[in-house]
Amino acid sequence: MARNPRHSMLPTPSHDEAARQQFVLGLKDHIRDHVRAHMGAVYEQRGKPRFEKQHGHAPKTAQDVGTVMWDDPLFQTFSRLHRSGQEMMWDAVADTLYRTQHDLSDKFRGFASKAKGSLTLDADVTGARPMREVDIHLQPGGYMTDYGTDDVMAGAFYEYGGNLYAMGRGVGMAESKGEVVIRFIKERYPDLKPTRILDIGCSAGSATVPYVRAFPDAEVHGIDVAPAILRYAHARAEAMGAAVHYSQRDAANTKFPDESFDLVLSHNAMHEFSAKITEGMMKESYRLLKPGGVTVHLDVNIRFDEYDAWYKFYRGWDQIHNNEPYWSVYATNDCGRMLKDAGFPDAAVWVGKFRQLDNSLSWHIAAARKPA
Ligand SMILES: C[S@@+](CC[C@H](N)C(=O)[O-])C[C@H]1O[C@@H](n2cnc3c(N)ncnc32)[C@H](O)[C@@H]1O
Repeated sequence: MARNPRHSMLPTPSHDEAARQQFVLGLKDHIRDHVRAHMGAVYEQRGKPRFEKQHGHAPKTAQDVGTVMWDDPLFQTFSRLHRSGQEMMWDAVADTLYRTQHDLSDKFRGFASKAKGSLTLDADVTGARPMREVDIHLQPGGYMTDYGTDDVMAGAFYEYGGNLYAMGRGVGMAESKGEVVIRFIKERYPDLKPTRILDIGCSAGSATVPYVRAFPDAEVHGIDVAPAILRYAHARAEAMGAAVHYSQRDAANTKFPDESFDLVLSHNAMHEFSAKITEGMMKESYRLLKPGGVTVHLDVNIRFDEYDAWYKFYRGWDQIHNNEPYWSVYATNDCGRMLKDAGFPDAAVWVGKFRQLDNSLSWHIAAARKPA
């Protein structure tokens, strides 16, 4: 199963909607390959010499770089185009999603009535304040909007818009995030035969479902704080014939019993968490694992300790202009230390880069095994 599988919870765009979505994708590709790609040269040839002339030394921090790039007309043009491309993408998918909103709710009810898996919501689980108040990566309504008992829109936006978003970022389609981690587990922990698996911050469940296929004897759980996302994930898994047990729980306080899983995962979730929540998730990972169990946390490969001032500034764009409140926090998190603080022995912790099969990108992975 590759990234972006087809299933009946994904709406079908009309001819005009599809044309508009393809146009936006082309525009985003163009901005990435022909505008964004030149921003390093703009900095080297314009911003950096200007800073050096003003201060007598090269920029040392991302803030230094900002003093000469935020008012550079070429960088401003890129920044406006990049933001507009993202806004246009959500507008383009919103046409299809709002037109099919009632149909998606009907399908959710249909799947929920004869489910192989389950869905348990808990209105007391609300997530951190930015989750409720910020439209994360400009997704209309963010993750937490909930229109009522059969609303699935936040999840539909996440998957349907996210598919276009990943394509616009040049992410290859050969392998889903779940499959990347499954390949990592099979290479690094070949003896692991999990019987209970937990995916934290599962969102629409695109990384969760591959575990049902890879470990058919295991019971697979997905948790998230967003109710409409979980409804969508539930219907999506059922549409794909996969039994997944979804519940509304907080990554840092899951309320599952001690030692109740042998594989605890997260995919692309840490960059949406405060450092406190990520630390809490690592502690939960240790507490929830049976002896010999494994935890793997995968996310985007932005590590600020590896970058110079220019790159930190450049990669920090998403925090300010793409509504990613924890982007820079995540980029400075020491995930290895967090795993050790959670109780995993030094020698059991692995932190590094892991390439996607098609080589379109490499991921950052923090993994550990609880002693048997
Ligand atoms: C970027 S998405 C995760 C993507 C998903 N794992 C995937 O691979 O497609 C981040 C998710 O984390 C959820 N989230 C945010 N804070 C959380 C928390 N404290 N506990 C659990 N989930 C949380 C959000 O609602 C959102 O669905």
